[in-house]
Amino acid sequence: MALLLSRSDVQQLLSMDETIRVVEEAFRQFALGNVIMPQRTVIRVEDYHGLHLGMPAYIGGEMDALGLKVVTVYPENPTKKQLPTIIGTLLLNDPTTGAPLAVMDAGYLTAMRTGAVSGVATKYLARRDARKVGLFGAGVQARTQLWATCTVRDIKSAVVYDVDSEACQAYAKEMTGHLDIPVSPVDDPRSAVEGMDVIVAASSATEPVFDGNWLEPGQHINGIGSHSPKARELDTTTIVRAKVVPDWTEACLVEAGDLMIPLDEGAINKEDIHADLGEVVAGFKPGRENDEEITLFKSVGLAIQDASTASLVYRKAREVGLGVEFAF
Ligand SMILES: NC(=O)c1ccc[n+]([C@@H]2O[C@H](COP(=O)([O-])OP(=O)(O)OC[C@H]3O[C@@H](n4cnc5c(N)ncnc54)[C@H](O)[C@@H]3O)[C@@H](O)[C@H]2O)c1
Repeated sequence: MALLLSRSDVQQLLSMDETIRVVEEAFRQFALGNVIMPQRTVIRVEDYHGLHLGMPAYIGGEMDALGLKVVTVYPENPTKKQLPTIIGTLLLNDPTTGAPLAVMDAGYLTAMRTGAVSGVATKYLARRDARKVGLFGAGVQARTQLWATCTVRDIKSAVVYDVDSEACQAYAKEMTGHLDIPVSPVDDPRSAVEGMDVIVAASSATEPVFDGNWLEPGQHINGIGSHSPKARELDTTTIVRAKVVPDWTEACLVEAGDLMIPLDEGAINKEDIHADLGEVVAGFKPGRENDEEITLFKSVGLAIQDASTASLVYRKAREVGLGVEFAF
């Protein structure tokens, strides 16, 4: 029998620290060569300004997780349809037989695993004494981004900038309550960069959200929003000034305008990209090496994050007896 798990089931089962732990292990297995993960399929549904992504992965080693997420990205959903930008469904298979173990909602799961990978990156790349976070975008992802950052560093305060000031106010109020730190809305992008230790770009913007000349030594940036060749949240100056760690260089070089545009301009070479996150996690390449360098994690989102998180959800659901059993 397979398990059917709703968004609320997934929400009850996932904690941020456990999600960070399994995502970190997935990246370690990736660097060790124990992952099979093709590039994701991308269907651009131009008529409706949407994206449909097919994301399969097998993670070997002790994790032994096999899954496929289908996720859609419709940026106009929140304003035009009262639906989230990201909607996802995940199929988890038994790696020993191929039989389906579970079908689960992957909207909340996506937000958790995207927050978690930034948590992993922040752990290896941000200064240990990081206390202040500046966020761009006050949407779904920005919530788990701040939660994850607070899980790996002793964050004392945060500020958030969004072009939608109502969204910004609502985010600040909700996250202040959730994380028990002051989270304040700011009305100019510069205030979300200057004096911050960690900067998070988690918006639906397609043009750079801040000027890389505003960056200060020692800052760490998590760039998670854009994942199309012609869109970017980070400008060329940011990429040139930072030590760049992608989730997976191969994926970023076909999807991330943040890196592809500076490469096309000749502002950086492929050799300037420091390492993939997994190589840093596995200890093959260094993370942050001093308090002065500017570090940047660029994420387009990988299927190993989904398979590892779904496997955790499934294990916990079986332990506590959550979800609906059904036979196909
Ligand atoms: N890297 C990954 O693994 C990953 C995973 C999920 C989503 N995403 C991407 O992250 C982005 C955000 O997703 P979401 O689910 O939070 O969307 P969302 O619609 O809930 O929130 C996006 C927010 O960005 C704001 N925004 C737009 N332009 C801005 C600008 N110039 N400056 C500041 N804020 C701006 C919007 O007003 C909105 O509040 C999307 O592009 C999505 O595709 C990436």
